[in-house]
Amino acid sequence: MGRLPGGTIPFVGAARIVPADEGMAEAVERLRIGQLVAFPTETVYGLGANARDADAVERIFAAKGRPATNPLIVHVTDTAGAKALASDWPAVADALAARFWPGPLTLVVNKSDAVPGIVTGGGSTVGLRVPAHPAALELLLRSGVPVAAPSANRSEEVSPTTARHVAESLGPWVDDLLILDGGPTMVGIESTVLDVTASPPPRILRPGTIGAAELREIIDVADDADTASGVARSPGQMLRHYAPRTPVFLVSSDKLQSAAGPDDAVLWLPSGGDPRDYATTLYAALRDLDRAGKRRILVEAPPEAPEWNAVNDRLRRAATGPGR
Ligand code: TXA
Ligand code: MG
Repeated sequence: MGRLPGGTIPFVGAARIVPADEGMAEAVERLRIGQLVAFPTETVYGLGANARDADAVERIFAAKGRPATNPLIVHVTDTAGAKALASDWPAVADALAARFWPGPLTLVVNKSDAVPGIVTGGGSTVGLRVPAHPAALELLLRSGVPVAAPSANRSEEVSPTTARHVAESLGPWVDDLLILDGGPTMVGIESTVLDVTASPPPRILRPGTIGAAELREIIDVADDADTASGVARSPGQMLRHYAPRTPVFLVSSDKLQSAAGPDDAVLWLPSGGDPRDYATTLYAALRDLDRAGKRRILVEAPPEAPEWNAVNDRLRRAATGPGR
């Protein structure tokens, strides 16, 4: 397999999409020898490498065109696996892991020496989670290594929620990429990232479907976590992110009907819509509307309510500007 020179010259190679159970043995072997594997999680598809292997992790950054300062999340099989990568493990982390793992919650803790600096963007903390997808868990168990995995898309593109999205995004950038197909992901947007290293209480760095209210059932969470705009930004996390090529505008419900012209693609809010259902299909919908080749994508703005925080965060990052 060739190596990407700085991640700037795409291969014209094709990705291979294989049902997760059929491709599992090969995926395990590839991780063990320092290669990349794309695999499903319950949130979005990940592009994985052995987190202990700095050379393998470097291939992730090259394939994605990702800035070296943006840290990766490391996926583990259980809390014991997480503790092995942490230099200290606060009591709140135990409580959170017991309640939410496996699941879409990433805990940022102080890293141990077992985690190479390239994984954490040179920083002293590491994001850890146990994914709630059988194929991801099997891959972790059978390979026996912690797996560093960002979303399996080129940097600044919408995260992939199907194996095909991965092939479209990374196929040209990774020679002979193996993609384990586990069907469309269930959650549809990336995990909640919670910093538990900060002097208490913990802070939400990236909102997700596990919101502040749910976290507060068992721990105290910093106040500003309620509004997406008040969320402290992770290192390297850009404001404009998750963006389709067609310009996206967020438009309030009352203005949308009159704002939309024949050249516009429109993403309506389902009436009585549930934020979790909306999140599940959001990225696929944005990709479809992007492909329609219209002038603009107008997105009906969801309510400014806590249960819509994660979706509103992603839509703001996708949007070119407010269309109100
Ligand atoms: O749901 C998910 O989290 C998916 C699946 C594959 O697990 N992964 C994912 O990874 O979304 P990625 O690399 O696309 O986004 C990781 C986010 C980035 O915003 C990064 O800055 C933040 O997590 N992050 C990772 N490690 C961190 C750390 N040590 N401190 C602060 N933020 C961190
Ligand atoms: Mg990402």
